[in-house]
Amino acid sequence: MSRVVVTGKVPEAALEKLRAEHEVDAWTESTSIGRAELLRRVAGADAVVSLLTERIDDELLAAAGPQLKVVANVAVGYDNVDVPACTARGVVATNTPGVLTEATADIAFGLILMATRRLGEGERLLRAKEPWKWGMFFLLGSSLQGKTLGIIGMGGIGQATARRAKAFGMDVVYQSRSEIDPAIATELGARRVELDELLAVSDVVSVHCPYGPSTHHLIGAEQLEAMKSTAYLVNTARGPIVDEEALATALRSGVIAGAGLDVFEKEPEVNSGLLTLENVVIVPHLGSATVETRTAMAVLAAENALAVLRGDEAVTPIR
Ligand code: DGY
Repeated sequence: MSRVVVTGKVPEAALEKLRAEHEVDAWTESTSIGRAELLRRVAGADAVVSLLTERIDDELLAAAGPQLKVVANVAVGYDNVDVPACTARGVVATNTPGVLTEATADIAFGLILMATRRLGEGERLLRAKEPWKWGMFFLLGSSLQGKTLGIIGMGGIGQATARRAKAFGMDVVYQSRSEIDPAIATELGARRVELDELLAVSDVVSVHCPYGPSTHHLIGAEQLEAMKSTAYLVNTARGPIVDEEALATALRSGVIAGAGLDVFEKEPEVNSGLLTLENVVIVPHLGSATVETRTAMAVLAAENALAVLRGDEAVTPIR
């Protein structure tokens, strides 16, 4: 029997799987495990099932000890995991691709609709009990039919967002390290372009690339200036891909029309410049937040940990 440390609350289905084969030490408080407690608990662990709020770095791997075999991150994004440090210590690192694709694309499209149709503004107005009356020019937004969606990062979530855009009558362009499967590109009517062109032609830009040194502040003041003044920016990937300060300035000065954000540069903090703006929709990292998806993520992470502990190949190793 091995010892598995789970760094935060996860659905029971995942814990049951782990408990059936191993001794499980799971953090079950609603508050997040502090760093000191985390370092104390991982000592002697054979597997760590980690949440994206925990930093898995060399210090933690050292605190765990040489018997540690696997870090199973309960997220598709793994910028919280120092993968080279894991590799150097012979620890397998895994993530949870696939299972949160549709839920995250739903939130991306939800934000697109909320931002372009000013739903947040309307809701705030009613909740503030402001006087209002139907009017020809009251809270007019912008239609999606016939407009262009620019997708930055055309992996599974980008493609699922493109599929939704197609159903709304939008054209799709994308920027990605590589061409997607030609059959999928044809199905989606999606054309690969350079970032400059994407920014210039898109009415909505949706960010779906992974975060890392090469995508830090990929969207800054210069890129926002390159967008149409009528365009919207949506980010459901990772906060630091967008320079939040530059975005707040661009939204305030009308450089772009609006934005929808599910992720933030210094999560859980939200740039105070954004909080007072009407033309930005902000939600607290809800991309994968459905019962079904979170259960599937946690179960996949558990299966990854179990596979490695059995001596098998991980189901979804980070490559
Ligand atoms: C992920 O899995 O990376 C998501 O951000 C979680 O919602």
